[in-house]
Parts: sequence; C-alpha cells; structure tokens
Amino acid sequence: MAEAPERNLAMDIVRITEAAALASARWLGRGNKEAGDGAAVEAMRNSFSSLHIDGTVVIGEGAKDKAPMLYCGEKVGLGDGPKLDVAVDPVEGTNLLAYGRPNAISVVGIAPQGSMFSLEESYYMQKLVVGAAAKGVVDIDAPVDVNLERVARALGKTVRDLVVFVLDKPRHAKLIEEIRMAGARIQLTTDGDVAGGLMAADPRSDVDIMMGTGGTPEGVITACAIKGMGGEILARLDPQSYPEKENIQAAGFDLREILTTDSLVKSDDCFFAATGISGGDFLHGVRYTSRHAITHSLVLRGKTGTLRYVESFNDLQRINQLSMVKY
Ligand code: FBP
Repeated sequence: MAEAPERNLAMDIVRITEAAALASARWLGRGNKEAGDGAAVEAMRNSFSSLHIDGTVVIGEGAKDKAPMLYCGEKVGLGDGPKLDVAVDPVEGTNLLAYGRPNAISVVGIAPQGSMFSLEESYYMQKLVVGAAAKGVVDIDAPVDVNLERVARALGKTVRDLVVFVLDKPRHAKLIEEIRMAGARIQLTTDGDVAGGLMAADPRSDVDIMMGTGGTPEGVITACAIKGMGGEILARLDPQSYPEKENIQAAGFDLREILTTDSLVKSDDCFFAATGISGGDFLHGVRYTSRHAITHSLVLRGKTGTLRYVESFNDLQRINQLSMVKY
C-alpha cells in the first residue's frame, strides 16, 4: 500500500536539481559527457543526504554494478521521513550538455513508495504526450494523421499549425515522414525527450505534442511531471533489441500493454523538479554574473497541481568553493 508523503517536498527537491545543474553547468560544450554527468550525480547525491525522507531510487543511473551512485535500489535521504520512490536524471541530455546544445536539464521526481513504474529490463518506450487541452483525444494505436487531426481540433488549430517534438533518430524515419505527410511542423532534437514532454504539456511552449520512442526511465519521469502540469502521456514498451525484448518478456511483462500517466505513477501525491543546465526555450541554463550563479527551475506538485518557476541567485564565491572539480 502506497504511503503518502506528509509534507510539501517541492522546495526540497528543487534544491537538489539546482545543485546538480550548478555542478554540471561548467561542463557546457566541453565535449566531456562523463565529467558533466559525474559532477551532477555527486552534487545530487550530496543534496539528498540532508533530506528528511526515506527514499529508494527506482529510476536511476543504472544497476549498482554499472553506476557507483544513485543506482536503482540505492537508499537516499536521512531515512527518517516518508517512504518514497525516487526518480533521478542528474543530467537529462548528457550529449546536449557536452556539445553545448539547448535543453539539457537536471530532474528529480518523487512519489509514495511503490507507486512508480519500474522495470529495469526495459530501456525504450514509445510515447505520446499532449497538454491538458488535448487530454483524452489521442490514441497510441491510431494513425499519426488521425492523432494530429484530433490534437489540432482540441487546440482550435489546423494540423499545419502544430509543432510535433520528435527525437532525431534513425528509428523515427517513418514517423517523421508520416508527420510531414499530415502537414504538421516538427521540432527535431538529438536528445532530451523529458524536456520534449514538458514542452508538449506546457501550453505556453511552441510544442503541441511529443511523439516517438525514447528512454523508459525518462517516460516515468515525464509522467511524474504530467501529474502536476496536467495533460497526458500514453506509452508502450518498445524494445530496440532482441535481448531487451526477451528480458522484458521473461520478467512477465506484456509488451502490448498501454501505459498511462496513472499506471506510470500511480499516486497523485508526487513532486517533480527540473533545473535548466544549458539554456533552452523552456528553462534558462545556468548563467553567471560577477556575483551570482543563477538557476532557473520548474517545480510541480501533483496533488494540488501547483506549478512554480523558481529563479535562484547563488553566491558565486560559495559555489566555486563547493566545487571540487578543476575545469
Ligand atoms: P541521456 O541524458 O541519458 O544521454 O539521455 C538522453 C536521451 O535523449 C533521452 O532524453 C531519451 O529518452 C533517450 O536518450 C533516448 O535514447 P537513445 O539516444 O539511445 O535513442
């Protein structure tokens, strides 16, 4: 039985994504994926260690043997608070950060213990994300043009006005062709479908819908955000290799099952925070002035639907002292 968090943890988790963004932002465009990610992981883990929660990482950096920190199963927090499932992606878009491209973000989602979908055997998931105005009109099994027509109608637009976020991957060649045939516009990006999902759900962004296959962990994290923002994610596991498919089936999971926002995160009592690392349309990246390192974050509470944008001005001297990394 899922146990509810007892307090509003929104501002606690945004400090964690801020710390990770501050630690990794110095690696923007420096071509070193591992260093940027490593700095964020370490900062995130340190920040968790002062939180009064009893958290277990269920969406993390990988299995313990591959990831030294924030691995799936790792306990985080002081252990004296609510029992929580924790989803982390210290740098969502490690390539975006390493090659100086927009929309690298640091994200954390939390929900009562036992409420997050977690299947370590699954790496890839097909996703369809829309905002609140188009909730309930899309069907993951419907042809692309039908879904686009329905979303356009729900938004009071024509299909050619729509912007569809798609990861720029060879596996999406057919999808991209179908979107073009339908007449919609496309925002193609190499990485970062959590940011893509957030943009699809945010009525103020240019993106109206996200389509295509990306990471399974990223899908669960996106669902956590959708709980607070409104909108909808529909998903289906989409293994990209034979061993992945076999492992999922061996774990007893039916590949035909359609996953919804509520099956990816079963409780509404969840929280989500994201901080920009590299600047994008959605969140600013970390900026430096002579005195401050400035972060821009989004923080959401599922239960109340409260959405906050937070700009933090962090003393630059202190940030530089905290940083153990030589740039
Ligand atoms: P990383 O930050 O772990 O590199 O993930 C970036 C990302 O683009 C995700 O946003 C997306 O869900 C996934 O990778 C897609 O995986 P792949 O690049 O293997 O197609």
